[in-house]
Amino acid sequence: MVIQINNASLKRDDTFILKNINWSVKPGQHWAIVGLNGSGKTTLLNIINGYIWPTSGEISVLGNKFGQCDLRQLRKSIGWVSSSLQERLYGDETAQEIVLSGKHASIGLYVQPDHQDIALALGLLEQMGCSSLANQPYKTLSQGEKQKILIARALISSPQLLILDEPCTGLDLFAREQFLDTVEKPKKSFPALTFPTSLAYPSKLNGNMKEFG
Ligand SMILES: Nc1ncnc2c1ncn2[C@@H]1O[C@H](COP(=O)(O)OP(=O)(O)O)[C@@H](O)[C@H]1O
Ligand SMILES: [Mg+2]
Repeated sequence: MVIQINNASLKRDDTFILKNINWSVKPGQHWAIVGLNGSGKTTLLNIINGYIWPTSGEISVLGNKFGQCDLRQLRKSIGWVSSSLQERLYGDETAQEIVLSGKHASIGLYVQPDHQDIALALGLLEQMGCSSLANQPYKTLSQGEKQKILIARALISSPQLLILDEPCTGLDLFAREQFLDTVEKPKKSFPALTFPTSLAYPSKLNGNMKEFG
């Protein structure tokens, strides 16, 4: 199992933010978590990443049982894309630099990339249909372009799990459909490469659905 959640609840003061959540995600599955604003989607994803601890229940991610594993190590296997990340990145960096900074999961590029890393970054930009944006400052990109760059950034560390928290925020209907098609591409066009074996993101493309609220 990539994600195994047994009876997880999160209580803040006297209110349940999440109550008795059970969820299993197998390798290669794609899931959409669907729910109204405030229904607990981001909270659940933060629990999977180990940023929030549930009040009760058991969590295992990529075979690591929470409470018995090194979360910082585990997080290296999880690609993470969210609008809060988008706000924290440096807008003056180029799209290529943003992608390269994903190798060390850093905000800003502090380690000089080698030729291999640069080739990998350019390959990922190509897969996301963003080759022409490589040298463009991140802050000048459209919302949809920024999201694609963030996915390339997440993929550069070859994660096994890619979590996208509302990647379609700020996209119009057309851009939304186009974006979700692009997300499918890395898996389809490069099946032999190490790419995520599972994705958790809201998508029109897949059957699995977890409904909240
Ligand atoms: N640290 C916190 N303390 C108290 N309430 C919180 C905290 N974090 C989130 N919440 C509440 O939990 C609910 C779920 O939030 P969230 O997971 O962000 O929802 P969604 O992503 O589905 O819009 C909201 O009502 C929010 O106010
Ligand atoms: Mg949210």
